[in-house]
Amino acid sequence: MSGTTPAGAQTEQEAAAWVRDMFGRVAQRYDLANHLLSFNIDRYWRAHTVRRVRHILDDPASRVLDICCGTGDLVLALERARGGPVLGSDFCHPMLVAARGKVARSQARAPLFEADALQLPLADASLSLITVAFGFRNLANYQAGLREMRRVLRPGGMAAILEFSQPPNPAFAAFYNFYSRRILPVIGGALSGNPDAYRYLPESVRKFPGAAELAGQMRSAGFRQVSYEFLTGGIVALHLGQ
Ligand SMILES: C[S@@+](CC[C@H](N)C(=O)[O-])C[C@H]1O[C@@H](n2cnc3c(N)ncnc32)[C@H](O)[C@@H]1O
Repeated sequence: MSGTTPAGAQTEQEAAAWVRDMFGRVAQRYDLANHLLSFNIDRYWRAHTVRRVRHILDDPASRVLDICCGTGDLVLALERARGGPVLGSDFCHPMLVAARGKVARSQARAPLFEADALQLPLADASLSLITVAFGFRNLANYQAGLREMRRVLRPGGMAAILEFSQPPNPAFAAFYNFYSRRILPVIGGALSGNPDAYRYLPESVRKFPGAAELAGQMRSAGFRQVSYEFLTGGIVALHLGQ
């Protein structure tokens, strides 16, 4: 397998089914756990991503999709910055239901649809910007995910991948690994009622390619002007590619 490998999954189909089922079970409590466990820094990470793609959002002719949108936080942040609709998609129905509720409460437009990020129901070259926050790591095949992102982007279009990474500073990495492996599963498990999900999280981060490797995979998938920056000491990396 060349993507996420949850314990027990033998094939890409099983990995994807495990991921969809797991997010379905935490959907109701996802936002609470997310904001508490990240001390609300996740809001800053998404806001930073929005700033980096602002020039595309400002173009009224642009078409923007946030894949793996979950409960919709990045879709809503993109839409607020844009002042116009941003599409959102996810393959987990309960996460989309939560997102729809938030979109309605915020009086946003954000058309949301259920779709696998590896098989988007969109024409080739139909988007100006595709974003993904904390979803890419969960794909069952990273190369296939990048190829699909590239397929739907127009020439000159941009992909933005916000994802957990490995802090480059060894002392900070040791502290962060202790937090994510020992503390986060206990608190996350209690908050969400699903300890498996919060054991999977640090494991999936540990197995995920480092930032330089992911940049290389983006180049191999045909992206140009690939760059990345670490946020919060490298807990998270934002990759951009054209
Ligand atoms: C950690 S959540 C992130 C949600 C949201 N983007 C955020 O920033 O909070 C990951 C999301 O990716 C979705 N996901 C994982 N694999 C997917 C796939 N192959 N296709 C579509 N959605 C997927 C999950 O259903 C889940 O909602």
